[in-house]
Amino acid sequence: MKVSIDGQRLLRRIDELATIGAIVGASGERGSARLALTDEDRLGRDLVVRWMNDLGLEVTIDGIGNVIAVMPHASGHAPVMAGSHIDTVATGGRFDGNLGVLAGLEVIESVMAAGIDLERPLAVGFFTDEEGARFAPDMLGSLVYVGGMPLEQALDIAAVDGARLGDELIAIGYQGGGPCPGLVPHAFVELHIEQGPVLEAEGVRIGAVTGVQGISWTRVNLVGQSNHAGTTPMSMRRDSAAAMFDIGVRLAEIVAEVGPPQVGTIGRIEVTPNLVNVVPSRVSFTIDVRHTDEMVLRSVEDRVHAIVREIADRHGLMVSTETLARFEPVAFDDRVVSIVEATARAHGLSVQRMPSGAGHDAQMLARVCPTAMIFTPSVNGISHNPAEFTSDDDLIAGTQVLADVMLELTEWNPKERS
Ligand code: GLV
Ligand code: MN
Ligand code: MN
Repeated sequence: MKVSIDGQRLLRRIDELATIGAIVGASGERGSARLALTDEDRLGRDLVVRWMNDLGLEVTIDGIGNVIAVMPHASGHAPVMAGSHIDTVATGGRFDGNLGVLAGLEVIESVMAAGIDLERPLAVGFFTDEEGARFAPDMLGSLVYVGGMPLEQALDIAAVDGARLGDELIAIGYQGGGPCPGLVPHAFVELHIEQGPVLEAEGVRIGAVTGVQGISWTRVNLVGQSNHAGTTPMSMRRDSAAAMFDIGVRLAEIVAEVGPPQVGTIGRIEVTPNLVNVVPSRVSFTIDVRHTDEMVLRSVEDRVHAIVREIADRHGLMVSTETLARFEPVAFDDRVVSIVEATARAHGLSVQRMPSGAGHDAQMLARVCPTAMIFTPSVNGISHNPAEFTSDDDLIAGTQVLADVMLELTEWNPKERS
């Protein structure tokens, strides 16, 4: 069973969604800023929901604002689901997340237009706050969808700007009555841009994603004393920012010692009082560390916590830490990964198995159903930046692979083949 997707329709939808919250990069690139549960997110949601309704899909909005659209089908069987997210970081590109949602919609529209009779329905969803840039943790909507966090706990999460998640959800009109946890799919497949340099460097068109590395996010709060920058001798300061810089240097050393694929990032920094001539009394900053091996990740976390305490002590500071996100590495279903590989090859596309460096909704869905991901190349490996770019040919090829994988999965019986 095969279907040809309409590549131009897919590209038009990607362009139209990107006009909402449009931003311009340093060299004029067109990006998107639709932080979760803002007015821009609402407008993006409204557009995609309109497209879902225009196709006559059965659209459900659940208690955390995840939107799931299922093709009408007489069987009542669990659907093969595609999906991703349409929220972005504040410096987002046009493809991160949006591709997986709009490609899923494209597959469904193509199948319905061709009148193909399926054994089970197809579905496409977008999950709330995948980015975690406004409300931590990341992949929050899909975490709640699979029952990994109680809804009430998620609704109480505070944004970086202080707003309560549940209030923001109501304010944009996206707290629905659908159940959390939600409908368990027969299988889940997420098409996503790679967001890294590997496929382009290897000259490979499709990544068959084997899993997602473990993610650990910590907020560190250091409290010292603000004082006059001219009169306070260096030996008598309790300078929170000086301690943060020392921690940054030690973090980079630890990451270098462990070596690839270990990564470490200090991404968000708030300094108080943030003035040129005042020793900073308080600093609050985030540390993001990731590794494919849970044991290695744990030992890096332990070492980072130890240096935070040691350096805070040396600078005479009070210290507290909070875990913002912690997800173990996830392995996708090898049988579905093999279907992705075989489908890409059948289209004459070069394909390579690879882990994902970024977090994805698929890693949550993998808790409840057979799951895999398809990657398409990212030019220069750039993402979370308006310069994020994937060629039209690669977007269309990835979507065609998604279509064929989804159709094959409608006839796939995991029990027979395991
Ligand atoms: C989330 O998408 C992340 O990888 O940070
Ligand atoms: Mn994404
Ligand atoms: Mn992202």
